[in-house]
Amino acid sequence: MFKKIICVVGARPNFMKMAPLYAELMRSGKFCPIIVHTGQHYDYQMSKVFFEDLSLPEPHYSLESGSGTHAEQTASIMLSFERVILKEKPDLVVVFGDVNSTLACSIASKKISIPVAHVEAGLRSCDMSMPEEINRKITDSISDLLFTPSLDGNKWLLGEGVHPDKIHFVGNIMIDSLVKVLESISSDAEARLLNQHRLVKNKYALITLHRPSNVDEESSLRAIFSVLSEISAEIPVVFPMHPRTRGKMSLYGINPAGGGVLLLDPLGYRQFLMLMRNAQFVLTDSGGIQEETTFLNVPCLTLRKNTERPITISEGTNALVELPEIRDMVHKILSGKWKSGSKPAFWDGKTASRIVSVLSSQSL
Ligand code: UD1
Repeated sequence: MFKKIICVVGARPNFMKMAPLYAELMRSGKFCPIIVHTGQHYDYQMSKVFFEDLSLPEPHYSLESGSGTHAEQTASIMLSFERVILKEKPDLVVVFGDVNSTLACSIASKKISIPVAHVEAGLRSCDMSMPEEINRKITDSISDLLFTPSLDGNKWLLGEGVHPDKIHFVGNIMIDSLVKVLESISSDAEARLLNQHRLVKNKYALITLHRPSNVDEESSLRAIFSVLSEISAEIPVVFPMHPRTRGKMSLYGINPAGGGVLLLDPLGYRQFLMLMRNAQFVLTDSGGIQEETTFLNVPCLTLRKNTERPITISEGTNALVELPEIRDMVHKILSGKWKSGSKPAFWDGKTASRIVSVLSSQSL
């Protein structure tokens, strides 16, 4: 008898974490995986293009929850997801990462006694002003199986009183997708993309910024664009923009035309990986990009006060920066003085198979 497993995705950073597990569950022949897309992200460029780039099938359920306040979004996902699990009666629900869908679906499942597994458990920024930190802590506290990407995750969970039997160090599942997709990209395709944007390999900076702490306030967003414009005098700057950032720019009437910063719409996964692999450095406030740059050994400046992924600093190429420090850091990188990183343990493209081994050993 196949075990029925619901895999929940909702927002852009979930898709590349779910794809390898879905493929491995199918391959095992022991499980029947069902994809539920909550619709937290809904634009083609924020969602569907990832299904195409990751060779995923259409979701079995699309809940179309859309956006709203945190409470509206979380509540709407809980209501519609509960209907799905009451109908499907899965043996397990798997949630990924730290977005509102992760929280909403783990609570809805546990309340009706369906076990939950959390992939990317144990990450902590210790900053409760981040909505993601609230999502991480609550999801971890109610999950039955906690799959950690690095051993700092095990330490946090044990410190919070989680029973050791629930915790499994399996490595970083996002790297499974990254390895697979990069292997499938030809050097011609990469050259074409760089040409299209008039970029030269290892001679441009790639920017992604979307966190409320950076982009929601007008003064902060203007200050960021002023720094980007200065950087662009030294090195071409390319900035694929998250809809939140684009929305705030138009709200505040910020128009950096002529500032030398190439603004793009959000990119698909393949295109973004190509640009990241060939960048001289990345400036970001994303969680996942700190990890991907560590794996690719590309210098990464993270415009945040803290990170839930400290291994990218201790072992990788990442550093936390404040806005006024960025120019100096960029000079350090451009003069070849940046640290070189190493790949953390189990960031090897085999995390999904380790998770399926654990799932096979459970009495679900
Ligand atoms: C969410 C996650 C965050 C993750 C980020 C990556 C939470 C709490 N936050 O933040 O952890 O790093 O995704 O992208 O779950 N929008 C569109 N089109 C879309 C999606 C969103 O226009 O396809 C708009 C929304 O209407 C909203 C804004 O973008 O105005 C932000 O979207 P939202 O879902 O609130 O959170 P993110 O900032 O994307």
